[in-house]
Amino acid sequence: MTTTAAKPRFDKGLANTIASESAMSWIDGQEGVLEYVGIDIDALARNSTFEETVFLLWRRKLPTAGELEAFSALIRGEYALPEPMWDIIRGVPADAGPMHAVRTLVSALALFDPEADDPSLEANERKGIRLLARTPSLIANFDRHRNGRDFIKPDKSLDVASSFLAMLNGERPTETMAKALDVCLILHADHGFNASTFAGLVTISTLSDMYSAVTTAIGTLKGPLHGGANEAVMHLLDEIGGIDKVEPFIRAKLDRKEKVMGFGHRVYKAYDPRATYLKTFAKKLAEDTGNQGLYEMSNRIEQIMHEAVGSKGIHPNVDFYSATTYYSIGLAIDLFTPMFVMSRIAGWVGHCIEQLSDNRLIRPRCEYIGPHQQPYVPIADR
Ligand SMILES: CC(C)(COP(=O)(O)OP(=O)(O)OC[C@H]1O[C@@H](n2cnc3c(N)ncnc32)[C@H](O)[C@@H]1OP(=O)(O)O)[C@@H](O)C(=O)NCCC(=O)NCCS
Repeated sequence: MTTTAAKPRFDKGLANTIASESAMSWIDGQEGVLEYVGIDIDALARNSTFEETVFLLWRRKLPTAGELEAFSALIRGEYALPEPMWDIIRGVPADAGPMHAVRTLVSALALFDPEADDPSLEANERKGIRLLARTPSLIANFDRHRNGRDFIKPDKSLDVASSFLAMLNGERPTETMAKALDVCLILHADHGFNASTFAGLVTISTLSDMYSAVTTAIGTLKGPLHGGANEAVMHLLDEIGGIDKVEPFIRAKLDRKEKVMGFGHRVYKAYDPRATYLKTFAKKLAEDTGNQGLYEMSNRIEQIMHEAVGSKGIHPNVDFYSATTYYSIGLAIDLFTPMFVMSRIAGWVGHCIEQLSDNRLIRPRCEYIGPHQQPYVPIADR
């Protein structure tokens, strides 16, 4: 008996392919809606915390007060880095790009986790918690190391955002700064089958392990067409240099058919709902921190882009206003994408666990366009 497989369809960039099912986040790109487990992102950004949002994504329900307390304690209980990690951080060249450092350090965490290759659901959840809890220490302390400062250990009395900022800056953050980072962590936590999540899923679908999947995802997030866009936006603002230069700069860029970073999205053809909230938030934060100029430039870029390409469905995405937000918090520009890592671990781990609950190897095909039936020419005759 012969089996006939369905003929594969060519779909460049997989833009029209639904590769699996998920109950985590839902995106309506035409209307500009994003929900985590059915709850609008705007309501979460206004009312939730990062820890509560992670619980929602992983357990598919909002926690009770007791459940949230227990979940937060679980995360804080895993803040401490395995002791050998401190020497590994010291071993990273001080001039390494932070995304290379984070990818390497997250991968190294597996070396000290006895459960690294335990494929059970329970072990995968514990690894997810460890990844979420420890990555902020890796990022903050790599930054301290490259600036010649002593390491600071995470503080269990603080939530993820505050503990990170306390390690990074050597002092407790103000409530405004901690809230700003927490909001960014909520907004970036999950986004369907984005490129990094999908890359991580390819890895986990081979029955590799959670650390390998998250390391794969970090490498994918790094690119400027994905998570790297927030840093590119800040460099763009720097390069433009002043509000009066915005219009000629952006129009010249568009004339050269170059993309303006922080605009456009594969799925959203309406305003990215994460950018809607962040825009208002970034404005307030920029005013409070004396960075109005940056916000005004961003707003002017948005106006010009709206006139020029708004009709094509090109609007600001989450990265556009997160650049001003992170800058106002005082983060170095090359730490913007690592902030995305800290948050999106929630999505990567959740999707990997979902994938494993009904796994099938992810393995698409390519359309072969090379020659056939070529002779093998001996090397001496070529
Ligand atoms: C995100 C992105 C990769 C989506 O790409 P995509 O779905 O493959 O869309 P395309 O690149 O095919 O763009 C479709 C059209 O919009 C234009 N466009 C898309 N993004 C644009 C941008 N940021 N600036 C100017 N024009 C843009 C394209 O030039 C193209 O125009 P055309 O039809 O006249 O050729 C793309 O919008 C982009 O590169 N944005 C900048 C990087 C960024 O901010 N990434 C973060 C995403 S959260």
